[in-house]
Amino acid sequence: MPDTKKLNICVLGGTGFVGRHLTAKLCSDGHHVRILTRHRERHRALLVLPTVQLVQADIQNESELAKHFAGQDVVINLVGILNEPGRKGKGFQQAHVELTQKVVQACEKNRVTRLLHMSALNATADPQAGTSHYLHSKGQAEELVHVIKGMNVTSFRPSVIFGPGDSFFNRFYSLLKNIPFFFPLACANAKFAPVYVGDVVEAFVHSLHDARTYGKRYDLCGPKVYTLKELVNYAGCFLPFKRRVIALGTGLSKLQAMLLEFAPGKPFTRDNFKSMQTDSVCKGPFPAIFGIKPHSVEEIVPQYLSDCQQRGRYPIYRCHSRRD
Ligand SMILES: NC(=O)c1ccc[n+]([C@@H]2O[C@H](COP(=O)([O-])OP(=O)(O)OC[C@H]3O[C@@H](n4cnc5c(N)ncnc54)[C@H](OP(=O)(O)O)[C@@H]3O)[C@@H](O)[C@H]2O)c1
Repeated sequence: MPDTKKLNICVLGGTGFVGRHLTAKLCSDGHHVRILTRHRERHRALLVLPTVQLVQADIQNESELAKHFAGQDVVINLVGILNEPGRKGKGFQQAHVELTQKVVQACEKNRVTRLLHMSALNATADPQAGTSHYLHSKGQAEELVHVIKGMNVTSFRPSVIFGPGDSFFNRFYSLLKNIPFFFPLACANAKFAPVYVGDVVEAFVHSLHDARTYGKRYDLCGPKVYTLKELVNYAGCFLPFKRRVIALGTGLSKLQAMLLEFAPGKPFTRDNFKSMQTDSVCKGPFPAIFGIKPHSVEEIVPQYLSDCQQRGRYPIYRCHSRRD
């Protein structure tokens, strides 16, 4: 695909954290973006983007999906859930595996041959790996898209993604702010290499036009590795008061997961606990093909957590070093 061609791109999950950043970039590059969403009214703000079309759709309905893929050059699937709604235990399978199957079928029906697929670092289809349902279902979905003949698929496997609007630093910031005295942290020694959403977006956008990315799967990590405790402490350093983070041992981490599974919104589950038993770090640097020097946490996070501070009229201090 030539670099200058303006494409019709259908994005699933385009209303989410990554989706909003990606859509903004695609629109600023002049592409026409059709976002399929379950809640059109909720996401009307996206309509300020000049070339965006926001379509209410039941994406689990195959014929509806096929109808919306008509005339598209590219499909991007960003749909993913970290926790299953309810207690039936089918959510991951439906949101990751079954949906991906339907996406592939709808692409085939409409002769859409370019698919960008969002997976996750450590996702694996291997049932022997004994990983979480989240990572196993993400792995199955990834496997599925790469065995399809006649389609040019690229998959992305990021570690935790950060940036304005993320649910990682923002969530820990607000938990630290609202939980009194000290913060009990499960899996405190789990390792992450957080990757900036802007760098993830660049990788997607670059892939649109680069045939060398066809059939490839890319692990995406930021430049540094941190423990979860270091990252939570970093979020806390933007608060106007010191909040102590207490690392829980394995037993207490599991217990916390069991209890919080029953809290509204399931802030932490046994499946999350299982995912964190494998460090979310890459084996190599950010893929050179994208021509990016990935941004660090320290370069980006102060830009948006400092905003939180200012809104709360807090002074800015203590965040010079991530190990404060
Ligand atoms: N954020 C991270 O740190 C991270 C790390 C690694 C991988 N990933 C992967 O990156 C992708 C995007 O992540 P994100 O953080 O942007 O997620 P997000 O903010 O939760 O957005 C996901 C979007 O998917 C749609 N969606 C969610 N559940 C769905 C369901 N059951 N059926 C249909 N649509 C559903 C929603 O769109 P509507 O409500 O508009 O329908 C939502 O806006 C996911 O696949 C995730 O697994 C994220």
